Amino acid sequence: MLELFYQRRSIRKFTDKPIETEKLDRIMQAALLAPSSKSAYPCEFVVVEQKEINEKLSACKPLGAGFLKNAACSIIVAGDADKSDVWIEDCAIASTFIQLQAEKEGLGTCWIQIREREYNDKQSAESYIQEVVNMPANIKILAIIAIGYKDGEKAGRDESFLKKEKIHINSF
Ligand SMILES: Cc1cc2nc3c(=O)[nH]c(=O)nc-3n(C[C@H](O)[C@H](O)[C@H](O)COP(=O)(O)O)c2cc1C
Repeated sequence: MLELFYQRRSIRKFTDKPIETEKLDRIMQAALLAPSSKSAYPCEFVVVEQKEINEKLSACKPLGAGFLKNAACSIIVAGDADKSDVWIEDCAIASTFIQLQAEKEGLGTCWIQIREREYNDKQSAESYIQEVVNMPANIKILAIIAIGYKDGEKAGRDESFLKKEKIHINSF
């Protein structure tokens, strides 16, 4: 596990190679295995492999999502706020499970923040995406995880990256 954590980096450049069905299936198994407060399981996932849809999604906010148009796949991670008051936490854990399983599969990922982000001064990134993928307004979107084969290598972290002063023992 730790090796995987050191290795994982945000990847924003992808090759055109599609993701094998078995790999995507295991990634979604990981998403569905994420823990959930009070076993409410509020998360909903939209897996997008159609290039035209990912192109539309890449325009969901002015900055930080453009690279999605070149990703083989994206997963919209959303939650039903009526099912859980902590859908954000549940969705964040599921998103992380997706990223780590994808890394294990030799794929690259990047989290694209959607919650609290704007498409333009009149529309939220969330409502723009809801229109693109026919998602009802009561399903709230946390993030899109872009996934694909890495185009080039990005160095992993080593121990010098660890800010050990952030760890407080017994008292802050
Ligand atoms: C909550 C969250 C939101 C993020 N949003 C974006 C985003 O919208 N666009 C983007 O390109 N990267 C986004 N990232 C990726 C971060 O920029 C990245 O994790 C950070 O620079 C550290 O780099 P690393 O992931 O390679 O370790 C996000 C990461 C997190 C955890």
